[in-house]
Amino acid sequence: MLIRTHNSGFDHGNSSEITPQGLYFSRRDLLKWGAAGGSVLASGGAWAQAAKADSLKALSSVKSTVPGALSMETPTSFQDASTYNNYYEFGLDKSDPARYAHTLKTRPWTVRVEGLVNKPKTFDIEELLKLSAQEERIYRLRCVEGWSMVIPWIGYSLSKLLAQVEPQGSAKYVEFVTLADSKTMPGLRSGVLDWPYTEGLRMDEAMHPLSLLAFGMYGKELTPQNGAPLRLVLPWKYGFKSAKSIVTIRVLEKQPGTAWNKAARNEYGFYSNVNPDVPHPRWSQATERRIGEGGLFAKRHKTLLFNGYEAQVGQLYAGMDLRKDY
Ligand code: MTE
Repeated sequence: MLIRTHNSGFDHGNSSEITPQGLYFSRRDLLKWGAAGGSVLASGGAWAQAAKADSLKALSSVKSTVPGALSMETPTSFQDASTYNNYYEFGLDKSDPARYAHTLKTRPWTVRVEGLVNKPKTFDIEELLKLSAQEERIYRLRCVEGWSMVIPWIGYSLSKLLAQVEPQGSAKYVEFVTLADSKTMPGLRSGVLDWPYTEGLRMDEAMHPLSLLAFGMYGKELTPQNGAPLRLVLPWKYGFKSAKSIVTIRVLEKQPGTAWNKAARNEYGFYSNVNPDVPHPRWSQATERRIGEGGLFAKRHKTLLFNGYEAQVGQLYAGMDLRKDY
């Protein structure tokens, strides 16, 4: 994410292509999906963190049957997906989460689900892992900064969890609150966001079968930098809607604020649907760079409305002015 800041010292400038170049060119596709979790051909810095993938627990899953859940595109390498991250609680540079997120303590972990529900409950992570069959879903994730990845996630529809707590008739929105632990998250010292990082969805978006509560990727549990032990993945929305390391889910009547919307209201709207026709105020959203495809000079891909998931989710926004509700 890129933001204009006045005194926080974190202004990333005007470009949507802020890439630590040395890191980028050194790690192209060394690992292929399938070999992920196997040998890692590197040492030091971010590489060393990726090597820890060997210690991640395997997570078994079935192939998803949800329409649109299995993209046919070639997945990004595990190496790239776990070393080029946004997780501001661990720093602002793309390589910071891989370097520093190993301090994240993912056990014990609970998720409180509350608000306008008949059966509020605090779920233990082990219970959540078993709540429904874990499915593999291959989703394209498009970041608002202009890059994208294709990732084989493991999880199940968020609707399965929401069904457990029985949302009431007045429930219209869902808020997601993520961990903010100043002892383990050095990024909290920066004033760039109003911590904890929060996100929100309209109830029908949250209940859509493609809305994924993810516990793993590439056949294993999530790495800390990718949002362990559980995160959201909404493939038709910009990546920042995918809140990492969730601790509270709150069902509400009123639309909640979100971390990025509060930080820069005119740049990051509540909906944040991928839309090539609605530019970010400081850059176009018409194209994207696929991480792993040859660096800054690789051919860019055309960005698709709703990130290519229009057939599945377009109906949710029928009649809305997407320029206004961006
Ligand atoms: N969740 C938390 N808690 N903190 C963050 O900084 N960054 C978001 C999102 N979820 C973020 C977060 C942004 S901007 C993006 S693009 C995605 O996570 C990146 O997910 P990835 O690093 O797994 O690709």
